[in-house]
Amino acid sequence: SKLDNLYRAVILDHSASPRHAGELTAGCVIDMNNPTCGDVIRLTIDFKDDIISDIAFGGHGCTISTASASMMTEIVLGKTKEEALALAEIFSEMVTGEENPKQEELGDAQFLAGVSKFPQRVKCSTLAWNALKKAIQTGGNAEVQERHDA
Ligand code: FES
Ligand code: FES
Repeated sequence: SKLDNLYRAVILDHSASPRHAGELTAGCVIDMNNPTCGDVIRLTIDFKDDIISDIAFGGHGCTISTASASMMTEIVLGKTKEEALALAEIFSEMVTGEENPKQEELGDAQFLAGVSKFPQRVKCSTLAWNALKKAIQTGGNAEVQERHDA
């Protein structure tokens, strides 16, 4: 359908031109591994008090995981830790097929959650969000550099 084509175009655009690609020189560093394929995301976040003041991601992943990371960084930049965790929760629920009254807050990422419901895609689309959750759970400690499995 036309709508499916639009979603696909948005996803391909994020994958081809990822927003906030790279690595910050300061901040919290989290490496998150997708054990089903071996792909890795490195998320760096700079927290100013409670706010995500800067964010970047690198590593290597498939189209879906790269697009998801790109969308996630756009959505959570400038948000508080609590707001970002709530958005991660909405995304996780949508990937499992649940509707959420607040899903519009996810912007383009709600399309991506929709297309990544297939079991083999869930770990791809949630990789970046899991890295985000881990970064917030560590408290945004600048000394922290950890490796995790999604
Ligand atoms: Fe940075 Fe959109 S590219 S907020
Ligand atoms: Fe590895 Fe999608 S196939 S993250």
